[in-house]
Amino acid sequence: MSNSLIQETKRIVAQFDYTDDDLNKGVQEFLRQMNEGLQKDATSLSQIPTYVTGVPNGTEKGLYMAVDLGGTNFRVCSVHLNGDTTFDLTYSKVAIPKELMVAKTSKELFGFLAKQIELFLKTHHEDHFEALVRRRKSTKTPHGYEDENVFRLGFTFSFPVQQFGINKGSLIRWTKGFDIPDTVGKDVCALLQEEIDLLHLPVKVAALVNDTVGTLMARSYTSPGKTATLIGAIFGTGTNGAYVEKIENLQKSVGGQYDKSTGEMVINTEWGSFDNQLNVLPNTPYDAKLDRESVNPGIQIFEKRVSGMFLGEIVRLAVVDLYESPNVSLFKGISSSTNDQKTTTRIGDGSGLFKQWGLDSSLMSTAVADSTPDLSTLRQELDSHLQIHAASVEDAQAFKDIAYAVGRRAARLSAVALAGIVIQSGRLKETKDELVDIGADGSLVEHYPSFRDMIQEALKSIEGIGAEGAERIRIGIARDGSGVGAALIALVAAGMEKKGI
Ligand code: BG6
Ligand code: GLC
Repeated sequence: MSNSLIQETKRIVAQFDYTDDDLNKGVQEFLRQMNEGLQKDATSLSQIPTYVTGVPNGTEKGLYMAVDLGGTNFRVCSVHLNGDTTFDLTYSKVAIPKELMVAKTSKELFGFLAKQIELFLKTHHEDHFEALVRRRKSTKTPHGYEDENVFRLGFTFSFPVQQFGINKGSLIRWTKGFDIPDTVGKDVCALLQEEIDLLHLPVKVAALVNDTVGTLMARSYTSPGKTATLIGAIFGTGTNGAYVEKIENLQKSVGGQYDKSTGEMVINTEWGSFDNQLNVLPNTPYDAKLDRESVNPGIQIFEKRVSGMFLGEIVRLAVVDLYESPNVSLFKGISSSTNDQKTTTRIGDGSGLFKQWGLDSSLMSTAVADSTPDLSTLRQELDSHLQIHAASVEDAQAFKDIAYAVGRRAARLSAVALAGIVIQSGRLKETKDELVDIGADGSLVEHYPSFRDMIQEALKSIEGIGAEGAERIRIGIARDGSGVGAALIALVAAGMEKKGI
């Protein structure tokens, strides 16, 4: 690399350093904001009570349905829980049409979801479906849900919702690029049930589930060695975590009924909005620009530094800064010996490098994973994804360094949230050697190389955890939170219904 390219890259990369001292300040503030959220409403960390008061142990049985809105795809599934920690899952997925994410009315979106449920039932449960629809059409009561043959559905709706009961909750705000003002403040379960009823489907929306809560349940069901899981975390398009809290610590009022016998309740932290005030979070010029130009400036500030939807944009802004730095030659020619070539722009007109959201976060994973000596995989991807033709090895190395720095900062910030919850729970102190189990899901933790290792590394430097504590924290991938997790909560809801809660 030329000296100026090396120096400039270093200057940019250094802005993403997140030191051990930063980590510890972050954890202290996270704990403060967690406790504030347990005491009152409308705080930065929402700390939403979920009405789920126990985690499964793998013996649960039955056939349930689940739908999932809020990740990369909309998914519809049916899950057969076998009662021996295993399950059989049938699912279909579709990408949500972009226009529905910003539709004028809730009906457009929820009508689409109901249609997908109908299609799924027809395809995968045809016999059952026809018989049930006939029965539902002839039933006298408008909601014959007491019918044993009605599918109970867990609705994984991965946005901040104020819950009023296990299957009731109003949308607080949209996140992750959705923006349908008509839905804000409305009960999303009722919206879905209305559309299901219009199609006469034999389905009752039995439980409202955040994807983090589903992940926590799914991990608890399958957790190796039956270790009780403390946290369900998503590091995907968005980021968030849910955990098991002692009811005595939940000081704000919780309306509605729930089973108090366990003394615990799962709390959806909505940590994507941790430190919207920027008391402790890093704020590079790239972070500030991304936020200013987003659809929701000033909110989801933590998420905008951690999750897949935003990391690519941070990298893009940093790379553009490098590209525009005087005296730096980036993506301008292969040979540094001929001046002509150096000044020839080798970037296609439609390149995503100069477009907002033009750089997909998956390119970061490709960059970091490329260990070929001449970074050939990355250079090919720069060409096919960003129309950066003939990037030199030096150019690709600069890109890789920036992608690594942005990803590492995201992992260390993730450690702040996880450590805050582990410390709050007291679980490391309560026992001497038991593991503290965390279930994680999402494209970032699945595909970004070493994301979990970087979190584990950071945990060691956090006071109250340390190297020994970090050894006892196990982060496992928990797939299908939206399927098996939502089904498990639909099962809990059915149990509550039977007990008349
Ligand atoms: C899926 C879960 O596996 O991961 C969803 O089942 C969750 O509930 C999703 O929303 C998050 O990942 P991504 O990358 O799709 O946002
Ligand atoms: C966003 C949503 C949150 C969800 C997370 C992960 O942060 O607000 O509810 O859990 O994304 O999908």
